[in-house]
Amino acid sequence: MKIIAFAASNSSKSINKKLATYATTLLDNVEVEVLDLNDYEMPLFSEDKELEIGQPDKAKNFLKKIADSDALVISFAEHNGSYTAAYKNIFDWSSRINTKVFQKKPMVLLSTSPGPGGAASVLAAAENSAPYFDGDVRAVLSVPSFYENFDLELSVIKNTEIKTQLLNAMRSLL
Ligand SMILES: Cc1cc2nc3c(=O)[nH]c(=O)nc-3n(C[C@H](O)[C@H](O)[C@H](O)COP(=O)(O)O)c2cc1C
Repeated sequence: MKIIAFAASNSSKSINKKLATYATTLLDNVEVEVLDLNDYEMPLFSEDKELEIGQPDKAKNFLKKIADSDALVISFAEHNGSYTAAYKNIFDWSSRINTKVFQKKPMVLLSTSPGPGGAASVLAAAENSAPYFDGDVRAVLSVPSFYENFDLELSVIKNTEIKTQLLNAMRSLL
């Protein structure tokens, strides 16, 4: 089983990347590739830009990564209650090539933030819209107060209740 994991963030210090990466370690016998959204940076999407440059290879490559996977783990960073511009831009370009961006893949959707809200707003948006993009959402989990619940030195969730919830979420992919 091949899992593609990524944070919907382009931060080099992304806490969502840490969470998504850790989540994949909870499953045995899986192949994991963690994507970095910086590898898919494209001009700001507009219909004018699309007429000018067509379909960027980076958007095609992003869709191919999803196509070649058996499951997705995405952890959403929240910027002002919504998606980061970096993720939304990749999503918009990709959706113009294939509206069904998630291609029927089983998905675990996560989110985290330093605050108690745990980026729950963007997670709800992602969960609610996933079916329109052929996302098969198996589990969602928002992790609040990241720095209190994640051991940065060991790169593990230290809150046992959240760890159990995350383990159950990841097992839903099997
Ligand atoms: C422009 C901006 C807006 C933000 N808005 C929110 C927000 O609405 N809710 C929230 O919980 N955190 C917000 N944050 C804080 C992020 O949760 C925090 O930067 C987090 O580290 C982002 O995840 P990442 O590290 O995976 O990129 C915001 C941060 C930035 C830079």
